[in-house]
Amino acid sequence: MLPVNRMKPQSRASSSWSPSGVDLADSRRKPHFLWRTIFTALLIIGCILVLKHSSGHRVTTAFSQHEHGVTHVLVTGGAGYIGSHAALRLLEDKYRVTIVDNLSRGNIGAVKVLQDLFPEPGRLQFILADLGDAKAVNKIFSENAFDAVMHFAAVAYVGESTLEPLRYYHNITSNTLVVLEAMAAHRVNKLIYSSTCATYGEPEKMPITEETPQHPINPYGRAKKMAEDMIIDYSKKPGMAVMILRYFNVIGSDPEGRLGEAPRPELREHGRISGACFDAALGIIPGLKVRGSDYETADKTCVRDYIDVTDLVDAHVKALHHAKSGNVGIYNVGTGKGRSVKEFVEACKKATRAEIKVEYLSRRAGDYAMVYSDPSKIKKDLNWSAKYTDVEQSLATAWRWQKSHPNGYRL
Ligand SMILES: NC(=O)c1ccc[n+]([C@@H]2O[C@H](COP(=O)([O-])OP(=O)(O)OC[C@H]3O[C@@H](n4cnc5c(N)ncnc54)[C@H](O)[C@@H]3O)[C@@H](O)[C@H]2O)c1
Repeated sequence: MLPVNRMKPQSRASSSWSPSGVDLADSRRKPHFLWRTIFTALLIIGCILVLKHSSGHRVTTAFSQHEHGVTHVLVTGGAGYIGSHAALRLLEDKYRVTIVDNLSRGNIGAVKVLQDLFPEPGRLQFILADLGDAKAVNKIFSENAFDAVMHFAAVAYVGESTLEPLRYYHNITSNTLVVLEAMAAHRVNKLIYSSTCATYGEPEKMPITEETPQHPINPYGRAKKMAEDMIIDYSKKPGMAVMILRYFNVIGSDPEGRLGEAPRPELREHGRISGACFDAALGIIPGLKVRGSDYETADKTCVRDYIDVTDLVDAHVKALHHAKSGNVGIYNVGTGKGRSVKEFVEACKKATRAEIKVEYLSRRAGDYAMVYSDPSKIKKDLNWSAKYTDVEQSLATAWRWQKSHPNGYRL
């Protein structure tokens, strides 16, 4: 028997069949098939894109969108001493704040204080990240809508920088490059940069103005100067608004006692004079070691310009207000008055009412004799001047916090 063709007869209108098995209408069907294939492929690509998008956890939050009338500031190093005080002031002034810190030197306790003070959604978020991790930084910028950056994060001890220079160039200079690249990629145009009088080195003439030539004499100052140079070069990009603030020696703490200065115990050796003074008053260390008593100053000890942290953060807020597109503002932030280490120690003894033993040692590498600012430019341009100029008073405020927090932010 011949095999029966069981194929269903097809309507002539739709197709024809030939004994050779070749569909004569195939050539006419091909365009439909092609379009169907393209359509399916596009559908699959679309699904993949949607899946990818949703698996990237791109959640919309107050931080991820610009909001009219709200300025969202990225505060790098906001778990640190100055950064936390700046974040507090910004939050009080109704800014939206994102703190990025790797907690290498800062305190999560300071962030907790801020979170407790500003628990409302959309006010403050903390992101644990290292600015040396360009991928992480880029992700932070892609997920958040920043209007401005205050870049505080840095390692910041002159003595340590002479022992570990590469760490300083990496942490200060190359991390600033990472921040600038992320700002460029995500079109964030406003930057307030934490610089330092250490970029001037040991100038011949006092007081130091912004025109004083910068010849830093230690890796810390050089790393900051390089970061400044990069920022200034990059600021020529249209739309950039940059303020570089060169702080002198920062002391004090929040007058309401909410925040303080709490460096890691292991950093005490490299620490700043106010920390050492409090440690001596608390009996944590046997006394104060003053490095250098043969400088060419009135009482032979170093002279510094001590600026209260409350004044300093006020300068940042004013700098943020006055930052203009196409402009780089460079300002000294100091009181304009120099105080010797001896004077400082006396103020510390009075503020703490403690008997503090003082031992005079040889000079510390990388230190300079006399540094104080001429703050007239910042007064003229930003209408800022220091208000908390009584060192003893600033130390007394900081001492109150120290006494009530003998373990820093640790409970
Ligand atoms: N304290 C002063 O007297 C003084 C003077 C002049 C300039 N400055 C500058 O002010 C800024 C703040 O100084 P501070 O005294 O508050 O120091 P700090 O050590 O208290 O704070 C610095 C913060 O930056 C964070 N940080 C460091 N490296 C980081 C990284 N790679 N990624 C993320 N976070 C990182 C630390 O964890 C810390 O919380 C620094 O840039 C410093 O150079 C300070």
